Amino acid sequence: MARELIPVIAIDGPSASGKGTVAQGVARALGWRYLDSGALYRLVALAALELAVEWDQAQRLAEIAGRLDVQFEGDEVWLAGRRVTEAIRTEACSVGASRCAAVPAVRSALLARQRSFRTPPGLVAEGRDMGSVVFPDAVLKVFLTASVEARAERRHKQLIDKGIPANIPTLLRDLQERDARDAERPVAPLRQLPDARLLDTTRLTVDEAVAQVLGWYRERAKPG
Ligand code: C5P
Repeated sequence: MARELIPVIAIDGPSASGKGTVAQGVARALGWRYLDSGALYRLVALAALELAVEWDQAQRLAEIAGRLDVQFEGDEVWLAGRRVTEAIRTEACSVGASRCAAVPAVRSALLARQRSFRTPPGLVAEGRDMGSVVFPDAVLKVFLTASVEARAERRHKQLIDKGIPANIPTLLRDLQERDARDAERPVAPLRQLPDARLLDTTRLTVDEAVAQVLGWYRERAKPG
């Protein structure tokens, strides 16, 4: 099947908005593949931290991105044969990912890898630039967000559940800084596209949010 015929649902939005959970739910319901593009930026950050590469060493960061030896298996993430599922979720990697993501050469080094996830019968891709840069021809584009307070609380719960220490005021400040960096960067800034549907999940359950995305997709996919 020609790649451009394989349907993509692009879900973009700010940090900790619940995109990941919603995107996975939609992918499961449709039996499609799922791409967590943020994990790729987090993996670049983890590798850079381990190699003591600084965030302003664009060339070295791009080399790391180009050579990333990554494997996704269900919920697990492997970097060069090492399981790093939790290691990429720390706040240090969150901040590092958003620093790496502001480097244009890192973004282009990850482009082909992201597009390779587009396999039959379809792909649900989530991140910041899925609808704008990586899959501009997505059949459905969703901008998924929630209030910054709701997002800080969700991220706090996620981290505590995983046994990672966290506190809400720090998370709130980090999220606001990261949102500003993601929205203000010159390359692939985070913003709602004119052709994206807005989904505010502040007061929605995960199931309600998944159902809304599936409803929009079915509307789009309806013949005529
Ligand atoms: O989605 P997640 O919070 O895991 O992403 C980590 C960071 O990676 C974000 O703060 C953002 O800077 C960057 N990112 C990006 N483009 C994407 C996905 C993530 O710039 N498509």
